Amino acid sequence: MLVAVLAGDGIGPEVVGEARRVLDALAIPGLTFEEALVGGVAYKATGRPLPPATLDLAKRADAILFGAVGDFDCDSLERHLRPEQAILGLRKELVLFSNLRPARLFPELADASTLRPEVARDIDLLIVRELNGDVYFGEKGMRTTADGLREGYDIMSYDEAEVRRIAHSGFQAARARRSKLCSVDKANVLETSQLWRDVVIEVSKDYPDVELSHLYVDNAAMQLVKNPGQFDVIVTGNLFGDILSDLASMCVGSIGLLASASLDVNNKGLYEPIHGSAPDIAGQGKANPLATILSAAMMLRFSLGCSTEADRIETAVAKALAGGARSGDLGGSMTTRQMGDAVLAAL
Ligand code: IPM
Ligand code: MG
Repeated sequence: MLVAVLAGDGIGPEVVGEARRVLDALAIPGLTFEEALVGGVAYKATGRPLPPATLDLAKRADAILFGAVGDFDCDSLERHLRPEQAILGLRKELVLFSNLRPARLFPELADASTLRPEVARDIDLLIVRELNGDVYFGEKGMRTTADGLREGYDIMSYDEAEVRRIAHSGFQAARARRSKLCSVDKANVLETSQLWRDVVIEVSKDYPDVELSHLYVDNAAMQLVKNPGQFDVIVTGNLFGDILSDLASMCVGSIGLLASASLDVNNKGLYEPIHGSAPDIAGQGKANPLATILSAAMMLRFSLGCSTEADRIETAVAKALAGGARSGDLGGSMTTRQMGDAVLAAL
């Protein structure tokens, strides 16, 4: 089993380094790793954020462990050369359309949440975000209006097949949990969302055991802060899922805790923390590696068939937190390496 390791920019190499140490400690027979450049570092070395050799490795591998991409130095490049295009390109090229972003409160971290502990305590939800369509991948550009004004545009669209396949992901995920699915859209304003809602309702006929509800995205954002315990699985489009998953991360204490899996139809996947490259703290040992370590656990479970080892990692993370391990984002002062050490010790 081959894992492609794409650490990327900023804090990516630091957090991926700790996840690698945890994976190495498990010494899973037959598991091998191969590294490649991605993002801003790849652009600087090769002129492309997603070099062909990296894409080739990602296609050959059984799973991809990904750090983060994004580099202030690259912000004025043409869009197709920017680091973010690497992750968007991987998601699209490998048809990783189903993005699972679980958010559950570790009881020890009730105080780290910006919500009151009695509100935060009940959070155990999963965001299923569509990852291959929406305004992210529509036609976009800059043009000049008839009045000579500069105008930027990005086309938002979903076809019914795209909605249907992510709806199935959402229903199946709900079935494996508490059988509640909330579909989030903006059907009161957007045609894209009206189709989304119609198709989700059609697909729901195959899942009579799952309780389906619908929320407009603005209300969903409010409900996530007001009463996050009401949610089991949320299924939503690419843009809304991007925004709501950052919101959910703070509800459980820190964006440094949220792992994700991006899967194709065969559960081949890319695993990454939901946070970005955080160039402001890169190289300082301040980043929290737990989101990446938990992403490695998801990788073992979903793509590599090693669920016992996945459980071991998740238990070790919980134990490390229960034992008081806290990086800066959690109100502590432990370094990235020390957080990794705490997980290794608990393992
Ligand atoms: C995420 C990130 C990406 C996204 C960026 C880096 C392109 O914010 O994975 O949530 O918008 O999808
Ligand atoms: Mg995001």
